[in-house]
Amino acid sequence: MDEKIKSVTEDSKTYPPSEEFVRRATIDAARRKALLAEAAEDHVGFWKKLAEDELQWIQPFTQALDDSQAPFFKWFADGQINASANCLDAHLADNADKTAIIAEYDDGSTRTLSYRQLHTAVCRFANALKKAGIGRGDRVLIYMPMVAEAVIAMQACARIGAVHSVVFGGFSARSIHDRAVDAGAVALITANQGKRGGKTIELKKAVDEALELGEHPIKKVIVFKRTDEQVPMVDGRDIWWHDAEQGVSDSCDPEPMTAEDLLFILYTSGSTGKPKGIQHATAGYLLWAKLTCKWVFDIKPDDIFWCTADVGWITGHSYICYGPLLAGATQMIFEGVPTHPDANRFWQMVAKHKPTIFYTAPTAIRTLAKLGHDLPGKHDLSSLRLLGTVGEPINPEAWRWFYEQVGGGRCPIADTWWQTETGGATIAPLPGAVDAKPGSCTMAMPGMDAAVIDENGNEKPRGEPGILAIRKPWPSMLRNIWGDPDRFRSTYFPADIADGKYYIAGDNAVQDKDGYFWILGRLDDVLNVSGHRIGTMEVESALVASPQVAEAAVIGRPDATTGEAIVAFVVPQNELPEGEAAQAMSASLRDWVKKEIGAIAKPAEIRFGSNLPKTRSGKIMRRLLRTIAKGEEITQDTTTLENPQILEQFKKQS
Ligand code: WT7
Repeated sequence: MDEKIKSVTEDSKTYPPSEEFVRRATIDAARRKALLAEAAEDHVGFWKKLAEDELQWIQPFTQALDDSQAPFFKWFADGQINASANCLDAHLADNADKTAIIAEYDDGSTRTLSYRQLHTAVCRFANALKKAGIGRGDRVLIYMPMVAEAVIAMQACARIGAVHSVVFGGFSARSIHDRAVDAGAVALITANQGKRGGKTIELKKAVDEALELGEHPIKKVIVFKRTDEQVPMVDGRDIWWHDAEQGVSDSCDPEPMTAEDLLFILYTSGSTGKPKGIQHATAGYLLWAKLTCKWVFDIKPDDIFWCTADVGWITGHSYICYGPLLAGATQMIFEGVPTHPDANRFWQMVAKHKPTIFYTAPTAIRTLAKLGHDLPGKHDLSSLRLLGTVGEPINPEAWRWFYEQVGGGRCPIADTWWQTETGGATIAPLPGAVDAKPGSCTMAMPGMDAAVIDENGNEKPRGEPGILAIRKPWPSMLRNIWGDPDRFRSTYFPADIADGKYYIAGDNAVQDKDGYFWILGRLDDVLNVSGHRIGTMEVESALVASPQVAEAAVIGRPDATTGEAIVAFVVPQNELPEGEAAQAMSASLRDWVKKEIGAIAKPAEIRFGSNLPKTRSGKIMRRLLRTIAKGEEITQDTTTLENPQILEQFKKQS
């Protein structure tokens, strides 16, 4: 076995949950064993029973799985259901006055909403959407700050059967425009401004710019007034949220949707220049959002759950907008950033709102550990009983800091591997039943048939890396790529791996001798920067769209804080810049990428050359670029290279 893999997987200490945790845990070892056995015995029956028990159906389904059009699987297809009714109405009889949402704004002020208040707010806004002409099946873009109204907007769409597509508030006007066009969205919900880390985010301005970039299908823009700032409103197109709600009723019957109706489209990066619109279906998605809250996060009615993700990502969908509400929990939503006004912010918020479960990303953990490894100890974090991470592998050093300093050595850490496409946590511990190993996402959840395989579909021996696959369909899997079923099939069920029978995650992984999964990185040209997925081609297309650029190749370089950092190798259209001219061009291209995609895709570094290293057949040798970016000596064979002198040019700029 590869020595590097051996050292991460075999030397690792295990961390069992405390007895106290196990005593209260929803799933203990015996219950886990029973669930695994049920799923192994009758995969479809396992899911059928859960769907019957966990969801409130308007019309019960009769068939659990329809695999006649595989890989376009359908679950519970003849059942009728409404997502918002399951999240809100389900709790009104017994828990109407319970706090559903604690929202903390960037400036530290807070607002809470009970289940009843949230229900009313969602009904009112749902009626406002209807009044604006939006209905069942319409696609609606949501471009909002992290305030309660983001959840209200999503829930209101779900209530009337409109399909939301949330665009992360850090994406550019160009990204909004492209998504609006691709999704054929008829309406867009935004805010005049947002606040983040003391800065004002001009959301409405970005929307106005987006809608001037070319033709688009958007007819209505609804604007939530987050600040007192007036923004230009386009007559007939734009309407304030509070004006749209004038005269509407406080009640709105949930639209009966079929289980397979689209709940949302969420765009994510792939290995081409164009992001993919991942489609999720209503019932299957809801089932797993709810169950993972109960099983992985051990959420019980008295828990306060805090997930720090943005609603613009799948984590914010499953573990802010839907899961915690389905589970009837109280949850926090935070508008700001962990470092403002300083690196105490998260810990102050824990002391103030007393969450019991805290779910965040390795990049945030590393940043906060670096800024103040002893800061958590200065606050009362005793409310916490369970921690979670997601987005990328967590390095054991950061894991241990999180465990000791934040969790006080008493909270299990659930390292959850999943994807936009899987809908909810997929390989993750049931923390009362599975011991943790720092850096491993542990084992597949019951019902999730994850395996490490070779091209023929055979399982790899323990200790040997391979392709991460999920071999049986599951209810919360993506249903399609919006407008591109061929791409759906070729990306996720590629014919050259196991004859296209299995879902291929795009990750490389290894199982250790105990069966624990260790994620080793992507198989495709997708980077993971601060837990965000960014396609190298996407950044390359953005760069070559600049008149200054003739050619560009983008690669990822390992980075201690962000996991990977983006490095771009650029061939300028005109002469090769040097010294200050190179710095100026680099700054302007970084800004260009920010404008084209968003700040998260900005290269950390740009190097210039008169060509890219290519083979004689014209293929860019990215391996060499990775070596150069790391500042390492080139040991690879360069004899197939058409133009070896190019390497010297790029190396010089270290
Ligand atoms: C990719 C999915 C699911 C929400 C966050 C990102 C990587 C995710 C882990 C983890 C190692 C992880 C994988 C995966 N990833 N969680 N716990 N350990 N890697 O969602 O943007 O769809 O990205 O993130 O590479 O394929 P996403």
